[in-house]
Amino acid sequence: MSVLPAGFPEQAFDVLKTRTQLSVEDLQVLAMIECFGEAFYFVLAKNVSNPAAKSLLERNGQEERGHAHRVLKAIKLKSGQDYTLPANQDNPFFRFLPTELSCDANIIGSLEAGEADGDLTYQVWADNEPDAAVSNLLRQNGREESRHGQRATEVRKLLGMVAI
Ligand SMILES: [Fe+2]
Ligand SMILES: [Fe+2]
Repeated sequence: MSVLPAGFPEQAFDVLKTRTQLSVEDLQVLAMIECFGEAFYFVLAKNVSNPAAKSLLERNGQEERGHAHRVLKAIKLKSGQDYTLPANQDNPFFRFLPTELSCDANIIGSLEAGEADGDLTYQVWADNEPDAAVSNLLRQNGREESRHGQRATEVRKLLGMVAI
């Protein structure tokens, strides 16, 4: 079941990245992408036996859910309306969620790059957001994306992987 607003392709984050300012509809999509992020980190953590590395990946996942909740606050501030996240099984992005992931240097490398890019993208949205409270929420999410990238680097070191 798709709950994506009409016009959003599967690679919705690429579409959101082209925006300088997010609409309420964009924020709804973003909240669902953050829920996907949570699940992605949990799948990745599942096959990691090093307890410290596992816990860093799980912490990233928990914070992605926190990001979705900050985005819900932003939606409320901008629209005055509550937006309810779909259950994971109804989230259209979950069709892209693998059931198994092996935590290798490729994945860690793309997380390091993707999270840094996520921070920059959030900062652009924050810079262009006229509502100061909404802007602040977006900025906080961005800062945490950079921290996720740093945790991915720690995981790489803990698992003895060479940077690629
Ligand atoms: Fe996030
Ligand atoms: Fe992240």
